[in-house]
Amino acid sequence: MALSRTALLRASRHAAPMHDLLIAALCQPSRRCLSTTTGRHQAAPAPTQPKGAPGKRKPLTKEQRDFLASALRVNQAGELAATLIYTAQKTPIVRAHPHLRPLMEHMYDQEASHLKTFNALIAKHRVRPTALYPLWSLMATGLGWGTAVMGREAAMACTEAVETEIGGHYNSQIRTLLEMFEQWESEGYEVGDELRELVGTLRRIRDEELEHLDHAVEHDAKKAEPHWLLTGVIRAGCRGAIWASERI
Ligand SMILES: [Fe+2]
Ligand SMILES: [Fe+2]
Repeated sequence: MALSRTALLRASRHAAPMHDLLIAALCQPSRRCLSTTTGRHQAAPAPTQPKGAPGKRKPLTKEQRDFLASALRVNQAGELAATLIYTAQKTPIVRAHPHLRPLMEHMYDQEASHLKTFNALIAKHRVRPTALYPLWSLMATGLGWGTAVMGREAAMACTEAVETEIGGHYNSQIRTLLEMFEQWESEGYEVGDELRELVGTLRRIRDEELEHLDHAVEHDAKKAEPHWLLTGVIRAGCRGAIWASERI
């Protein structure tokens, strides 16, 4: 069963205190860094700096760099898939239900904005896109077209399933980042504005995904037949795509 927007938000809010976060970054010799200092790129602190000195930022570990790179990679892939799903759904759905045009266009516009955001972030930080891009493109278009042909309820069930998984996925990333920041702050380190901005971006996009989930349920996603099978298969596919895109 899909998690409600309220439940997802509650899970996120209980995950960790809401303060700031993000940064550090994808600092590797061949990469630009997500700086912990506003507006400029900064090398890791010199080893002679005292731990926890005021105003100091802790360098990212390799595990943290890998997490941030995989997070940007999978988010960019997911948003590409979302734009393709809505693009494929729009024509059949609007032809059969003209009153849904504003809703379909609204959701597509938000997905296009999300994709633009992550395109910029992976380019800025030189994160490679997933190698599975062509496969996800094909599958997303097929999923969008196939569910739209099945009817309005199936198309909305597709949105319900996808956004349930994506909402949980963004919550998981936010939770991990907040825990990272909390750890840094407990050690006396600061978190820079760039990472704070990244968490804000993830929260905004998560909220918009959950808005899509609400729209889908309001437009009879639960009436799709068979709802349990359709949403179950799509949600499993989303989880598999997320797992693969984080790694490949
Ligand atoms: Fe999105
Ligand atoms: Fe969405």
